[in-house]
Amino acid sequence: MTAQLIDGNALSKQLRGAVAQRASALRARGIVPGLAVVLVGENPASQVYVRNKVKACQDNGIHSLLEPYPATMSEAELLARVDALNRDPAIHGILVQLPLPAHIDAQKVIEAISPDKDVDGFHVASAGALMVGQPGFWPCTPYGCMKMLESLNDGKGYELKGKHAVVIGRSNIVGKPMALMLLQKNATVTICHSGTQNLKALTLQADVVVAAVGKRNVLTADMVKPGAVVIDVGMNRNEAGKLCGDVDFEGVKEVAGWITPVPGGVGPMTITMLLVNTLEAAERG
Ligand code: GUN
Repeated sequence: MTAQLIDGNALSKQLRGAVAQRASALRARGIVPGLAVVLVGENPASQVYVRNKVKACQDNGIHSLLEPYPATMSEAELLARVDALNRDPAIHGILVQLPLPAHIDAQKVIEAISPDKDVDGFHVASAGALMVGQPGFWPCTPYGCMKMLESLNDGKGYELKGKHAVVIGRSNIVGKPMALMLLQKNATVTICHSGTQNLKALTLQADVVVAAVGKRNVLTADMVKPGAVVIDVGMNRNEAGKLCGDVDFEGVKEVAGWITPVPGGVGPMTITMLLVNTLEAAERG
């Protein structure tokens, strides 16, 4: 069996079209949705991510303010900048790109962002809102994965109720929120990590596997139940320097029912959900 591809680029295009329409409706009411993107230091990967986020805003009617600062910026200076953005009525969303230089306490900076502008969904208030099922901003990567599941079966969605989902990875920005989102849809959820004993015994039972470890070949064909949905959040490089995920794509695609590619899977969805959250923030006013 060959899996159906879940095309993150195509789904993003569709969702970004809807964002652009909502942005233009807001503009007609005199509101220009605005996102501030703060980058401290010169991490090359971060520079690429930030550039992609800013371009996606520009392409879809969202005003973006890119603020690059030298790696020598102090924590106090960054906190002051966040405070100013919190009060700026032209800015509806604030994103501080991670990782931050070691002398800055990233969690402290995240907590300084107003929860009303926390479009990354990293603030404890956002995490708490997700936990108890209250309105708030969902972290973009797991949110994008949920949208991918909703897009299956010609947009009718994948029925998660009563299904078993295995999430591999327990980060605050992907694994844990992903598990909560799946639970909210009445899936039975197991959270694993790279040190889980006999991971294969668990993944073989799973109707949905989300791999978010950051290590190649965490999930191989022998670990996947035939017909399962496999979502690959990983972003790694192989020996040849080619971008690849956590999943052995070539092997797993012969067993799974659906699979996300890398690149062109979850990656573009993360940026798309950032646009959705920013628009939502502007609409909430
Ligand atoms: N670094 C890697 N991914 C992300 C993200 O989604 N948001 C922020 N702020 N930093 C990141």
